[in-house]
Amino acid sequence: MILPNLKEAKKRTKDPVLTKQFNISNDLVLIGQGKSYYIKTYGCQMNERDSEDIKGILEHIGFKEVFDYEQADLVLLNTCSIRENANDKAFGMLGRLKHLKQQKKDLIVGLCGCMAQEEIVINQILTKYKWLNFVFGTHNIINLPYLINQNMIFNKLMIEVPSIEGNIIEGIPSKRLFNHKAFVNIIYGCDKFCTYCIVPYTRGKQRSRTKEDIIKEIKALKKLGYQEVTLLGQNVNAYGKDLYNNYNLANLLEEVSKLGIARIRFVTSHPWDFTDEMIDVIAKYDNIMPAIHLPIQSGSNRILKLMGRRYTKEDYITLFNKIKKKIARVSISTDIIVGFPTETESDFNETIDLVNTCHFDNAFTFIYSKRVGTVAFKMEDNIQEKVKEQRLQLLNKTVNKYFLQNNLKYENQIVEILVDGIDLKTKQLYGYTDTNKLVYFPGTENLIGHIIKVKITKPKTWSLEGIIQSEN
Ligand code: 5AD
Ligand code: SF4
Repeated sequence: MILPNLKEAKKRTKDPVLTKQFNISNDLVLIGQGKSYYIKTYGCQMNERDSEDIKGILEHIGFKEVFDYEQADLVLLNTCSIRENANDKAFGMLGRLKHLKQQKKDLIVGLCGCMAQEEIVINQILTKYKWLNFVFGTHNIINLPYLINQNMIFNKLMIEVPSIEGNIIEGIPSKRLFNHKAFVNIIYGCDKFCTYCIVPYTRGKQRSRTKEDIIKEIKALKKLGYQEVTLLGQNVNAYGKDLYNNYNLANLLEEVSKLGIARIRFVTSHPWDFTDEMIDVIAKYDNIMPAIHLPIQSGSNRILKLMGRRYTKEDYITLFNKIKKKIARVSISTDIIVGFPTETESDFNETIDLVNTCHFDNAFTFIYSKRVGTVAFKMEDNIQEKVKEQRLQLLNKTVNKYFLQNNLKYENQIVEILVDGIDLKTKQLYGYTDTNKLVYFPGTENLIGHIIKVKITKPKTWSLEGIIQSEN
């Protein structure tokens, strides 16, 4: 057993990051033959990307994917711990799996991802979920074949969750979710330690992949016909800082742009290290999409300081305006937390004021959730649940107004859409504009994966409706 340790997870040293190459010993290569797996992914794009690696590893050792967990020989939950309700969802699923396991004794159930890195979750597993087969963390995905094999032999709970600063594994045979768009990790972990956030503890220290490895991956995707890549990291703006003296996100974006892939996106940007150079590069290259996710979190300087965000409301607005001015048609989205410890009515009103200033294209809004081990955990959570709910409601009403206002500008415009798929309910095609607006329109499945022109006929709050103008 290797148990996670909060003290270790907090540590940041100057030790070099180890880059390892994926490999599996020969005796493990066939252990999944004739067996099936189901994986449920919770949380952010980072987890989605990890699940692609996990699927790739499982298929490498012979497992086949199924989409009904009741039919699977192996069920894996790739979990998220960003807020308490993410944990609750995974525990709910574990309840159902316990039931299934009582009927299907050979069923193997594993848990991985961010929840696995939490000491408190492991303690719960050790008391209430001892029937689980194995748990592994975010740093040791490549141990999965070994864990499955050990479990097949010994059939008892194994927990292997090292709390280390983190390494980088190259060459994992991923099974990608789409054939036309892909996530590409550029930086792992986070060193920002915003006081509410558990990510620096679950994902380890900030560590950039080499530009050569990133470019190689994107070139290979392009060769396979991919139209879009999203450069991924908890804070992509920090790219290169831990690795190079003179190479940053602006340089990487420029280099990736020149590879000629049709669409390049990047998430998430921390306002603190968003440079003018980055803005200029995004403005200059047509294949870098004019859509920026720029979390503000709060509009009150007092709360921003308590959150450890390292910028003021004024800094944010200056950056926001600079981006709007320099990048044509840019859309800006954000994340906002209400109910942070000690947030007063007046602090909250400043957040509303900020929304009324910035008119975001999209916003993800959350009620603050206490996370064990973070700095804010020790702050008194002195706001009544009812008040938090009311603030969230008012905030949502305010942000929604601007979503619609921004979307209305698209009426009768012809936009380019990368077609993602077909909506099962409405039977309509859907995809995103360069500015990351979701558009639904009638059409046929053969267009999935293509970039086509669509005329917007009906803008709504969360999406747009349109008709195809031309198929190329
Ligand atoms: N409570 C509520 N929201 C949180 N986020 C991160 N940690 C917490 C927390 N403890 C939000 C932030 C972040 C987004 C990914 O999740 O807004 O930008
Ligand atoms: Fe969490 Fe802040 Fe890092 Fe984002 S930048 S992952 S909010 S600690």
